[in-house]
This record gives sequence, structure tokens and C-alpha cells, in this order.
Amino acid sequence: MVEPKKILLGVTGCIAAYKSCEIVRGLQKAGVDVEVVMTESATEFVGTATFAALTGRPVRTSTFGDLADAIPHIRLAESCDLLLIAPCTANVLAKVACGVADDLLTSTALAAHDHLMVAPAMNMHMYESPATQANLTTLAERGVALIEPASGRLACGDVGQGKLAPVEDIVAAALAWLDGRSASRADAPTSVLDLLGKHVLVTAGPTRERIDPVRYLTNDSSGKMGYALAEAAARRGAEVTLVSGPVALDPPSGINVIPVESADEMFAAAREAFPEADIAIFAAAVADVRPKERAGRKLKKGVDDKALRIIELEENPDILATLAATKRPGQIVVGFAAETDDFIANARKKFASKHADLIVANEVGRGKAFSQDAMTVALVTSDAASELPHSSKREIAVTILDWAHSRLANNL
Ligand code: CTP
Repeated sequence: MVEPKKILLGVTGCIAAYKSCEIVRGLQKAGVDVEVVMTESATEFVGTATFAALTGRPVRTSTFGDLADAIPHIRLAESCDLLLIAPCTANVLAKVACGVADDLLTSTALAAHDHLMVAPAMNMHMYESPATQANLTTLAERGVALIEPASGRLACGDVGQGKLAPVEDIVAAALAWLDGRSASRADAPTSVLDLLGKHVLVTAGPTRERIDPVRYLTNDSSGKMGYALAEAAARRGAEVTLVSGPVALDPPSGINVIPVESADEMFAAAREAFPEADIAIFAAAVADVRPKERAGRKLKKGVDDKALRIIELEENPDILATLAATKRPGQIVVGFAAETDDFIANARKKFASKHADLIVANEVGRGKAFSQDAMTVALVTSDAASELPHSSKREIAVTILDWAHSRLANNL
């Protein structure tokens, strides 16, 4: 029998502490085993008895007092798959960022630094303060998963960002972590879960256009850019559909990968996922043309000479242009422009013809872009073209998603 996953829920002294009860319930409904640790201040808002009744386990607030469990912070950190602190006050956030370990929860957080998720909640001015923002950056850089607070009316009457994120988002983020969808610190350039609840569609890799069962037309695309985008979106909490042409990359975990071969197959899969997508990124190098006839058996010299010498081609559907023409308000569409020359000027033309909100222009050719881990790109929009410094595809993926996220957030 598979052991249920275990989440240690840290509750801190915040008016939103009562919502932690719903978080316990949401996690339990998904089959997760939950144990709770509270700070002393949290018990001013909700009693330990409430969480003990909900979890069926004693709730500890102090490192001391139980000789049978003399080193509880290490036991707790080691026995859980994830330590989720929700809500996390500005004070506990600051302590965790600095490595202060002056009570059971913060000592446990220090020991659980590589499987830690934090959902801050506080007044908007406290949230905006340079100190809190610096602490959040520190934690994000260390790979701690951060669930951004929501905006709205706060307990004090102010309106702004600081409310604990919706319970269902917190539960979804924690489950995604357990699923392996959110990356751990090792490979997390950013771990802010700002795409929670969003659907992201990515096309990636080349397509193969069959001439006969053993021959095809294709191109040099490795799929690395599309895979980096899909992984980065999943790390930020998005539900990702990756429509992938044939590549030599491992399918990323926690991502719905739809393997396809031809442009037609890619079109069908992308068309199905597109209406649901909040962000659609067309990174595939789709073959523009395909053989008009596809032989059912291997073409043979001396038998099929004409068919081998002259392959009549017909155009493939333009997946990006066709789908982007149907995009609904608020949906963000990103395309690429693979160019061997005049890459910005050509990308501007593609911007005009493809109905995308952003075209990522890159130079291709021998030793450039395709198959490489790093490249130079320019972001082309209706009013600007800005060249980014030569960067890794993973860094470029983060920049593209930052751009798309800010467009979504501003609902442009
Ligand atoms: N694209 C697509 N379907 C096609 C061709 C291209 O979805 N049949 C998308 C690519 O995924 C990319 C963008 O359109 O986001 C531009 O692709 P690119 O290969 O640079 O340009 P093409 O449109 O093929 O034009 P050209 O070959 O003339 O440069």
C-alpha cells in the first residue's frame, strides 16, 4: 500500500488563522495526512483543540515539555513531505528568511528549508514594505514556494494586497508540490506561485511530415525552449498542456504532455486545448509544408523513381495564426519568430500577421538557437522591440512568463 503524503501545517498569529481549519479539511479530502504546529500567537486566534480534533493528532506549540519527543523540530521536519505555513505573518516570514529559530515552528522551518511553502497574510503596507519584499525575494531565491496573497478588503479595513490567498488555491498549490509539479529548490529560478489556477498551453519541438513510413521532412528544433517554458509555468503553479513534436527530452513531471508527430496532429491537439488556455505559447518549429502524397509503403529505387525525385508539397495549417485569430478577450498569445536574418524586422512582420500579443524573435542557423541551451532573443510587441541579453532558455522562459503574467494581471 502506498503511504499517504504528509503535510505539516504551520499556523501563525493572524486573523486568517481560522482559514487554516479549511486548509486542513481540503488537504484531508485529497487523501493527505495533516499534522499541525502552531505559534503561541496563533493560539490567540484558534485553539489547539480545534486542530487536534480536525487532525486526530496532538498539536504542539513548543519545542519543550514532552520528554518522549525531545527533538520535535527535527522529527517534524523529517517526517513531512511539505511544511506549509498558512497563514504566515510578516514576523514569521522575516524569521524564516533570517534563519531565526526561536520557537517550534521556526526551528522546524529551518530544518525543512528544502520542502517549505509559505502563504503570507498581513496588512498591505506591511506586505509592501521593503523589509517584507526583501524577505520574500530571499525566500524565493532559495526555492521556498510562495503563494502570493490576494488583493481585497483587509481585516483592518484597508484595501490592497495582503489577504491570505484563497483556501482552494493554497490546497491546489500544496497538492501540486506533492505531485512534483512545483520544483524544489535545486532548479527553481523563481518559486512564486503566481500562475496558480491558470492554464498554459505550449507547443514545442519540430514536426515530422511523412513521405513514406521511413522518410520524413523535419527541422533542427530540439524542443528545449518549449520544454523550458512548460516547466517554468508548472513551477509557478499553472496547469500546463505541452503539445510536443518528436524530441529527445524527458517528459516533465506534472505536465500534461500530448506527443504528436505532424503539423496536422499538433494543430488538432492545440485546437482542443486552446479555448481553456489563459496563456498560449507557440514555441514549436512547425514544418510549413508537407508532402501532398504520403506513400503507405517504403518508396523503392527502380520502382518509385519519380516519387523519390519529385515530392510535391502542400502547405500545413498555420497553427498560431489560425488559433490566435479566435482568441477571446484576456487570453494571452505568444509566438516565436525563427529567423536567419533581419530577425527583428522579420519578427515585426510576423507580429502583424499572426495576431499574437508578443513575438519572441530569435536568430536561427548553424550553432544558433536550435539545440543550444542559450540564445539571444528580442521581445516584439505592438509598440516596442527589446533585445534581451544572451541568456539560457530557462531564463528566457521566466522572462516570457513574467511578461505574460503581468499582461494577465493588468487584464490588457
Ligand atoms: N507556427 C505555427 N504553425 C505553422 C508555422 C508556424 O504555429 N505552420 C508558429 C510557430 O510556432 C511560431 C510562429 O508561428 O510561433 C512563427 O514560426 P516561424 O517558423 O518563425 O515562421 P513561419 O510562420 O513558419 O514563417 P517563415 O517560415 O516564413 O519564417
